[in-house]
Amino acid sequence: MLRTHTCGELTATNIGEQVKLCGWVQSRRDHGGVIFIDLRDRYGLTQVVFDPSHNKQVHSKAEHLGREFVLLVEGGVRERKEGMVNPKLRTGEIEVLVDKLEILNQAETPPIEIEDRIKLSEDIRLKYRYLDLRRQVMQSSIITRSRIYKVTRDYFAEQGFVEIETPILAKSTPEGARDYLVPSRTNLGRFFALPQSPQLFKQLLMIAGFDRYIQIARCFRDEDLRADRQPEFTQIDIEMSFITEEDIYALIEGFLKRLFQEILNADIKTPFPRMTYAGAIEHYGTGKPDIRFGLELVDVTDIASESGFDVFKTVIAKGGIVKAINAKGCAGFSRTDIESLTKLAQEAGAKGMAWMKMLDRLESSIVKYFGEAVQKRLIKKLNAEKGDLMLFIADKASTANAVLDVLRQELGRRLKLINEGDFKFLWVTDFPLLEYSEEEQRLVAMHHPFTSPKEEHIKLLETSPEKAISRAYDVVLNGTELGGGSVRIHRRDVQELMFKALKISKKEAEERFGFLLEAFTYGAPPHGGLAFGFDRLVALMTGNESIREVIAFPKNKACQSLMDGTPSDVSEKQLKELNIRVESGRTNRQR
Ligand code: AMO
Repeated sequence: MLRTHTCGELTATNIGEQVKLCGWVQSRRDHGGVIFIDLRDRYGLTQVVFDPSHNKQVHSKAEHLGREFVLLVEGGVRERKEGMVNPKLRTGEIEVLVDKLEILNQAETPPIEIEDRIKLSEDIRLKYRYLDLRRQVMQSSIITRSRIYKVTRDYFAEQGFVEIETPILAKSTPEGARDYLVPSRTNLGRFFALPQSPQLFKQLLMIAGFDRYIQIARCFRDEDLRADRQPEFTQIDIEMSFITEEDIYALIEGFLKRLFQEILNADIKTPFPRMTYAGAIEHYGTGKPDIRFGLELVDVTDIASESGFDVFKTVIAKGGIVKAINAKGCAGFSRTDIESLTKLAQEAGAKGMAWMKMLDRLESSIVKYFGEAVQKRLIKKLNAEKGDLMLFIADKASTANAVLDVLRQELGRRLKLINEGDFKFLWVTDFPLLEYSEEEQRLVAMHHPFTSPKEEHIKLLETSPEKAISRAYDVVLNGTELGGGSVRIHRRDVQELMFKALKISKKEAEERFGFLLEAFTYGAPPHGGLAFGFDRLVALMTGNESIREVIAFPKNKACQSLMDGTPSDVSEKQLKELNIRVESGRTNRQR
C-alpha cells in the first residue's frame, strides 16, 4: 500500500507517529500562510497541514493544490491546537504536519460539489456518476447495499440454500413487462430474451432436486420507469420444495428480522400481520397498504343510494360505488386545501371529489341532498366527530379505490401521521389468480401463469376462472411491494388448464413453455418461492425515495445512461452480421 493509514483512522493514540495518507483534496483553507487541507477517502477526513516554517518547499508545492487533486502525504501526527478540535470527526483531535507531498494526480474543477447536500439536476449527477458516488451519502448507501448482500448470503446459506446462477441469454418469462431482446448471430433471425426474472429456471432447479435455491439475480424489464422501477434491477430470488405458504412466511420473516437487526439495529416484530387482498382493497384501496397509519376507507354505497344526490345515484345505478375517508380533525381545511385534494383526486382518475365537514352538524353544499336519517347513518358509519372532514369518491370500484388510496397517503403525509422510523411489514394473501385486462381484453395472470390456484379452486379453472383465488403472497413494507411469490403449479394438467384459462392455445403453450410442461411429467415436486426487489429493500433501509440512489450506475427516467451514452448506435458491420436493418430508430432517438 502507498499509505500506512486511511483518512478515517488516526486518533489521539497515534500522536507522535510518522504516517503516510492517500486521498482527495476535499477543501483547503489558508490561515496566516499555513495551508490546511481536508484529505478525504472512503473512510473519512483527516486534516493535513503545510507550514512554511516547518518545510518551505513542501508548502510552496501545496499552494497549487485544488479540489479533488489526489495526494500522497507523509508527516507526523500531532495534537490539534486549542479550539481547533472537531468532535464530530473521528480524526477531529489530530492533524498531520506534512513533510513530503506527492501529487498522484491533478483534477479539473469538478462539475459536482463533493458534498452531501447538493442541489443539482439528477441528469448532471448521472452524467458524472463517478463524482456523485464520491459523496459520503452515496458511498454510505452503496456500502450498506454491500452489507445487505452479505447478510442475505449468510442467512440463506445457513438455512441450507444453494446459490445458483441462471442464464441471462434466455427465453421470455412472462412477468407482465416487455422483453429486452438480443439477436443471435449464430442463429440468424432468432433472439434471446433477457430474463424478466429467473422464474422458470428456479422451478426447473426444484425439479432437478436442489430443494432450496437462492440467487441475487439481475432481472430485465422494458417498462415505464418510476422512482421504484429500473429496466434492470436486482432480486433476492428464492425457491423451495415440499413447502406450504407457512414455511415461506417463517423463512422470510426470519430473514428480515435478522437483516434489520444487523444493518439498522432495529427490532422487527414477527410474525407479520396478514391481510387478504380483498381486505386490503376494502380498507385501503390498494394491494400494498401503508399500515403505519389508519384513515381507513369506508364503503358508503348503501347509504349514498338513499340520498337525493344525483352524482352518487347515477354512479351507483351504473354499478359503481361510493367510498369515503374520514380525515380526522380536518374540518378546518381551507377551500384551497380542499381544492388541492380535489386536484389530486382528479389527477388520479376521479371525475370529482365530494366532501362534508362535521361541525355542530354536517356542512357542505351537498348536505341538503341527504335526509336527516341518512345523515345520521353516514355519521355513524364514518365514525364522524366534531371537527372531522369527510371526502367521498363515487366511481367504478377500481377507480374509487385507486383515488382514495392516493388521498389517504396524501392525508397521512399532510397530517404527519407517518413515523418515518417505523417499519410496518405486512403479508398480503389470497390474491385472485387472474384479473381482466382492458388492454388485452382477456384474463391475465395477476402474478404470473405458474402460480397455483388454491387446491379447491383448481376446478374453477374450467368453469369460472375469474373466481379462482391463488396461493400467491406479497410482502409489503410501509406501502411498498417489497416482494412477491407463490406456491406454484407442479402438475402438467393443472398448468395446461391455467394456459387454457389465459387463452393461450395448445400450440403456443407448447412453443413457449413446452420444456416446462415436459419437465413436469418427470416427477416435479410441490414447490414455491418468492422474490424480493433488492433495490427497493436497500432504498427503504437507507431512507431513500428512489432506487436510483442505491444503484451505482442506474438509468435515468428516459432509460438512458448519460455517463456512457447508452443506448448507443452500433456499427453497420455489427448490424449486417445480425441481419438487422435500422429504419426508424433515429427519429425516435432524437425525440
Ligand atoms: P415480481 O414480478 O413481483 O415477481 O417481482 C418481485 C419483486 O421485484 C421488484 N421489482 C422491481 N424492482 C425494480 N424495478 C423493477 N422494474 C421491478 N419490477 C419488480 C418488486 C417485486 O415485488 N418471479 C416472480 C417472483 C416469484 O414468484 O417468486 C417475480 O419476479 O419489489
